[in-house]
Amino acid sequence: MSRTVFRNVAAGLCAIGVVGAITLRASFHPTSPNLHPPSPNAPQVDPAPLYRLHCQMCHGANGKAPMPEMAFVDRKWTHGTSSAQMAKIIAEGVKGTPMMPFKNKLKPEQITALAKLVRSFDKRLKPEKQ
Ligand code: HEC
Repeated sequence: MSRTVFRNVAAGLCAIGVVGAITLRASFHPTSPNLHPPSPNAPQVDPAPLYRLHCQMCHGANGKAPMPEMAFVDRKWTHGTSSAQMAKIIAEGVKGTPMMPFKNKLKPEQITALAKLVRSFDKRLKPEKQ
C-alpha cells in the first residue's frame, strides 16, 4: 500500500517537474525574438547626406570638384573604376594625399553605398552588375 502511495507521489512530482520545466522555459524565452531586432539602418544606407558631410568639401557636389585631381567627372580614375576599388580607397585613403581613411568613421555598408554614389557621378561608366 505505502509503496503505491510512494509511486503515485513520485509520479505526481515528476509530472509537476515536467510541467514546471516547460512553464519555466516558456517564461524565460517569451521575448527572445525581440532580443535581436534587425539593425534599423543595416539594409539600406542613404549615401547622399554622408557624402555632403564627409566628402563634398573636397570632391564637390556630384563629384564636380573645383580641383581637377579630386573630381569624379571628366577625368580618368586613378585607382580603378569598380565600386569595390573605390570602396577600398574610401576605407583606407591614399597615403601622402588629403584623401584620408574613413574606415574608423564609417560603417562598411556606408562605405559601400558611398562608393556606388561616387561611381554614379561619372556617367561614362557603365552601371555595374548587382
Ligand atoms: C580633405 C579632402 C578629401 C576628403 C574630405 C575626401 N577626399 Fe577623396 N580624395 C581626395 C584626394 C586629394 C584624392 C586623390 C588622391 C590621389 O592622388 O590618388 C581623393 C581620391 C578619392 C577617390 C579615388 C579617386 C580615383 O581617381 O581613383 C575616391 C573614390 C574618393 N576620394 C572618395 C571619397 C569619399 C567617398 C569621401 C567621403 C567619405 C572622400 N573621398 C573624402 C581628397 C579628399
